Amino acid sequence: MKIFHQPGELQAYALECKRSGKRIALVPTMGFLHAGHASLIDIARERGDEVIVSIFVNPTQFAPNEDLDKYPRDFENDCRLCEAHGATAVFAPAPESMYASDRSIWVDETTLSKVLCGKSRPIHFRGVLTVVSKLFNLALPDVAVFGKKDAQQAIIIKRMVRDLNFPVEIVLGDLIRDTDNVAMSSRNRYLSEDERRRARSISESVFYAEKQLKAQGVAAVDEVVEYARKHITEAGGVVDYVEVRDSSDLEAPTASSCGVLFAVAAVFGTTRLIDNCFVDF
Ligand code: PAF
Repeated sequence: MKIFHQPGELQAYALECKRSGKRIALVPTMGFLHAGHASLIDIARERGDEVIVSIFVNPTQFAPNEDLDKYPRDFENDCRLCEAHGATAVFAPAPESMYASDRSIWVDETTLSKVLCGKSRPIHFRGVLTVVSKLFNLALPDVAVFGKKDAQQAIIIKRMVRDLNFPVEIVLGDLIRDTDNVAMSSRNRYLSEDERRRARSISESVFYAEKQLKAQGVAAVDEVVEYARKHITEAGGVVDYVEVRDSSDLEAPTASSCGVLFAVAAVFGTTRLIDNCFVDF
């Protein structure tokens, strides 16, 4: 497995792969990889001859009050996991090599990014879209794999690919849960044992919502939102949002919606967790 630290080296490698007719699959990550990421690499392996995993804690998607500095990192373990799952290359750049000090160009989205996580993290998706665009230009992927755990991110990246005509197929991997049903996340590492136990109220709310929405459609919206708010609050969580939105455009769902996203963000201790489910009608 090759390891690149310089953007130019990755791009030269990707160009060479393209010239020899290889199909490139990219899995963008911020490292501290877990079984959720492994499942994305497995999907990439099935869809590409070359599987490039980027490991980059992207500073531009963190606000100054967020956890950029303490975001967990374990490069050696990440490389082991990538290799075990058949990645052919890892790209791990330093921030200075990705961003010029006088950078002045951003990729931004103006509608989908204003709701859900975008409300409490106003610069987040601009940072995500900018770095994902850069990764697409460097790795030249035919296909890129993202997780449904970051549902809003996935929907916004699909919109970017459509609106900016990136020649990349976006494939989404399922949200992966731990044995206690907590959605896998690198940030789970911040939770104490007690917070982790109480954080199960989030996935319990997601399961409840999924069941009710499947049974009753949009008629269940108010009830599942109320249930989740109460259940998570009673477990000691501070709810950032619990919402049901049309999964095609993140607008409020209507009787003609073909599918919805039930999405939650809540804080346990100092850790902000997200979880969700998609329900198609
Ligand atoms: O989902 C993530 O880990 C990040 O937001 C991404 C897509 C790698 C961009 O930094």
